Amino acid sequence: MTAVTHDLVVIGGGPGGYVAAIRAAQLGLNVACVEKEAPLGGTCLRVGCIPSKALLESSERYAEAKHALAVHGVKVGGVELDLPVMLARKDEVVKTLTKGIDGLFRKNKVTRYTGHGQIAGPGKVQVGDTEISAKHILIATGSKSAMLPGVELDGDRIGTSTEALAYPAVPKHLVVIGAGYIGLELGSVWRRLGAQVTVLEFLPRILPGMDAELAEEALKIFKKQGLEFRLGCKVKSARVVNGDCVVECDGSGPVTCDRVLLAVGRVPNTERLGLETVGIQLDAKGRIPVGDHFETSAKGIYAIGDVIRGPMLAHKAEEEGVACVEHIVTGYGHVDYNGIPGVCYTEPEIAAVGKTEEDLKSAGVDYRKGSFPFLANGRARSLGQTEGRVKILADAKTDRVLGVHIIGPRAGDLIAEAAAAMAFGASSEDIARCCHAHPTLAETLKEAALAVDKRALHI
Ligand code: NAI
Repeated sequence: MTAVTHDLVVIGGGPGGYVAAIRAAQLGLNVACVEKEAPLGGTCLRVGCIPSKALLESSERYAEAKHALAVHGVKVGGVELDLPVMLARKDEVVKTLTKGIDGLFRKNKVTRYTGHGQIAGPGKVQVGDTEISAKHILIATGSKSAMLPGVELDGDRIGTSTEALAYPAVPKHLVVIGAGYIGLELGSVWRRLGAQVTVLEFLPRILPGMDAELAEEALKIFKKQGLEFRLGCKVKSARVVNGDCVVECDGSGPVTCDRVLLAVGRVPNTERLGLETVGIQLDAKGRIPVGDHFETSAKGIYAIGDVIRGPMLAHKAEEEGVACVEHIVTGYGHVDYNGIPGVCYTEPEIAAVGKTEEDLKSAGVDYRKGSFPFLANGRARSLGQTEGRVKILADAKTDRVLGVHIIGPRAGDLIAEAAAAMAFGASSEDIARCCHAHPTLAETLKEAALAVDKRALHI
């Protein structure tokens, strides 16, 4: 048994954990980070956000070369898919980024321990035969795919997003269970590469939690792209029968296909964490309860990211990690949960920050709405990407921006302006009076802000 001492030990090397470790080291703490996988970066870098974005980008280039260049006067013949190269490129992107975190740890003198970290009583974390003593322990162990009773995962034909990032060949027919972020992003990838894709969704709509009007518009666009949807379809079972995958739903006939992607949400990773040794009890959803400054019921033990309440997003975990360690060291640290953007990286992208119209209606808030279509934006026209709109919701009395919702080209980048404006308490008039370069996609935000006061200039 080796005994070591640090000021802070972070369990989990994903975006929440590794960022917290770096920030704590910047603030002068002697920091350890425990991660069981060899590469740092967690689900996001290894089998989540980054590899999916690499495949989304590559598949979009393929689809564009095949179907969308002729209109630009670019003739291409013999466009072929080289799937092994596409997958290898994705792996290379992941490798470079995960190695980058090793470099950041070295630069900031964060000590890395490889293995499963387990709390072994107050101020103690066990990793293999090393016992780490630390005044502060931060749990950042993330989440894993939620299971569905009756869906028999075999790690191959019936799998989760991890398998769907590495299918060795394009499926003939892929059934996706769940029309959330993962289902729509990875469903889009394999549709572009030539698969028939059927999305089975329990609710009568897609993208739960997103603004309903935009989700409706997205559904129409995805259908035009050839994705098939069965809404209001509760999946009961999925299994391999005589070499085919058979998916059964309540109220509609079974679907036969050659691969199934289960994407019905994620659940916190809390197994074998030793929580019982410090008396931490999970809430009804299996999450670790924390107070305002991320401290659990056990003194000196904190938790952030997907293991606690709130959206399961990498950037939310990062913000929490920074706020948590800043509070430990300086006594100050804060996350503005209303300012956390959400982005679905389909084509077009869908992005949002703040309240939806549904939120405002149910809270009885009086609001004004300004909307502007990409169709009327010069840059979008030049790009040939005119689908979608920007919608700004502002308080009817004060004009303060309460929510911004975008479906359209580069929505994920455009939402940053809205998030920054909201962080500074901007009114729609403030956004409308900021000079936006012409011709840019960002002009749609200015125009939507003008539209709140019914004075959009280009529509
Ligand atoms: P999700 O919660 O976004 O969507 C799951 C969908 O499955 C829901 O629409 C739900 O109604 C449906 N569903 C549940 N049970 C069902 C059943 N029996 N039959 C049919 N449909 C059913 O979850 P998803 O897409 O798995 O993503 C997991 C997490 O990862 C989310 O919290 C998401 O925020 C995060 N994520 C974020 C991404 C991004 O920021 N771009 C990308 C991928 C994931």
